[in-house]
Amino acid sequence: MERLDNMVRWLLYSSSIEDLRNVDMVSQKIGECGLVWEARRALADGSMSIYGDDHVYMLSREETLQGQYHNGLWQTPGQLAGALVHLSSQNIDSFVEIGTYAGWTCTVIVAYLMRFGLNSAYTYDVEQFCSPLTQTIWKNHNMPLVYLLNEPIPPGDYDLIFIDGNHEYPYVKADYEMYKSRARMLMFHDINDAYCPGVRQIWKEIKTLDPKHPFFVEFTQHPNGFELMGIGIVNMTK
Ligand SMILES: C[S@@+](CC[C@H](N)C(=O)[O-])C[C@H]1O[C@@H](n2cnc3c(N)ncnc32)[C@H](O)[C@@H]1O
Repeated sequence: MERLDNMVRWLLYSSSIEDLRNVDMVSQKIGECGLVWEARRALADGSMSIYGDDHVYMLSREETLQGQYHNGLWQTPGQLAGALVHLSSQNIDSFVEIGTYAGWTCTVIVAYLMRFGLNSAYTYDVEQFCSPLTQTIWKNHNMPLVYLLNEPIPPGDYDLIFIDGNHEYPYVKADYEMYKSRARMLMFHDINDAYCPGVRQIWKEIKTLDPKHPFFVEFTQHPNGFELMGIGIVNMTK
């Protein structure tokens, strides 16, 4: 938990705006914060972790799974860093995450965006993996992040909604239909993940609604070129 607290301190107090707009530096810090332990092997090379060279940032099984509560960011550092730097210039006042899991990713997103004007944030899950210690970090640093465990997301529109809940096609589709009119921007996780065909399919469908639509951005880089995770952001108002 010290790792996450150190990351929040860097994001909120020690980093300069220039640091926060430096993808390599943000990526390095995300890695050092710690990734969720993963036993899955790369489909492209069964001798390697799906994280490829980023496996050095993976927490151990024991660090990740602490009873009911879990730790770690479930992200590829370069992808999340690229997405954050993109979002830094999008005037995001309000944020919602669907699929909290350990709560480390929303902690990092919220602390980062607070430096660029974020004022309110919710994270929603149907199961509690997010530790009270993680929530204490939010409180200690006055982060405007509210955990909704099986509680409805307050009515209204949001600048950014991150869809990262159940990854099966019908669920991602339902999340898309539910939130598409409530978000200025929708962000999806796992748009390029060989293990997540449902998300890939939805992302393809959204893009083909208007093939000329210029307001999509994708962050799919992987240190070894594997088709892992991938973040897609679509501006719903243009
Ligand atoms: C891949 S994890 C989320 C990872 C997290 N966003 C991160 O980056 O670390 C998916 C989460 O979605 C939750 N989930 C499953 N079904 C859901 C649903 N219908 N609505 C919201 N969350 C759901 C799971 O309990 C799990 O915690």
